[in-house]
Amino acid sequence: MKIYDLWAGPFPLLQSEAFFLLQIISAPSCKHFPLEDIIPDPGDTIVIVPPPPDDTLGTPCDPNLIYFTQQILPILQSNCAMSGCHDAASAQDGVVLTSYESVMNTAEVVPFNPGESELYDVLVEDDFEDRMPQPPVAPLSAEQIGLISAWIQQGAKNLSCDPDSGGCDTNNVGFAAYVFPVIQSYCLGCHSGGSPSGGINLNSYAGVQAVAQNGQLYGAISHAQSYSAMPQNGAKLSDCRISKIKSWIDAGALNN
Ligand code: HEC
Repeated sequence: MKIYDLWAGPFPLLQSEAFFLLQIISAPSCKHFPLEDIIPDPGDTIVIVPPPPDDTLGTPCDPNLIYFTQQILPILQSNCAMSGCHDAASAQDGVVLTSYESVMNTAEVVPFNPGESELYDVLVEDDFEDRMPQPPVAPLSAEQIGLISAWIQQGAKNLSCDPDSGGCDTNNVGFAAYVFPVIQSYCLGCHSGGSPSGGINLNSYAGVQAVAQNGQLYGAISHAQSYSAMPQNGAKLSDCRISKIKSWIDAGALNN
């Protein structure tokens, strides 16, 4: 029995297993990725860890619920809703994955039943030709797939919460515990693989450190003038996320 810690989109857990999977799926020869290793079995225990606190005040996140806005949409935006794939303009196969409405209208989600839902089926499809996301985008991680499945099992609701309701703590921000998880959720769909967007590969400490130190990372996420606003096509990161990442950069962008 495998135990998966699901830390939703913006707030993943860096388990060594997740890291290990990431290494495999980001390897160039991902053709024979062992599917059975990444799909949770029905008997697996799924531990859903609540998002880390962020800033502003709003509805606190209930660790037992999956929040579409904070946990599911960022995965879809980063890995599926790119130009040429499932943004509104490209709409491959008629599927648009840019908002709750478009997901429910075009991705054949059957609430409470992941197995009947096209959105889930394509993630675990045995046939590599039909598996989503298609190369060069890496397959979703076990945690991300488990999260989408759990969201559908909970009725595929359009919930939103405020991961920042506990206050924004910008002290001692770690790369592994905080910065990289945020990047995995919001950025890697475009910034990893063989031809990462803008030639910027963020799927390693070295890649992130390079843009942290030359100012591009903060410029892009804070939507500063003369930088391209990131995440592209997605909502701006919360003020707290931006402050925490800035605090990590200001402290030397360490591999901590
Ligand atoms: C949907 C695809 C997509 C996502 C998601 C995305 N990016 Fe980008 N990013 C791009 C593209 C395309 C470029 C290059 C073209 C440009 O600069 O607009 C780029 C450029 C950049 C640059 C260089 C910007 C500059 O002006 O120098 C940085 C830094 C960057 N991205 C960081 C990020 C970070 C951090 C995230 C996540 C918070 C992210 N990106 C999410 C597509 C994406």
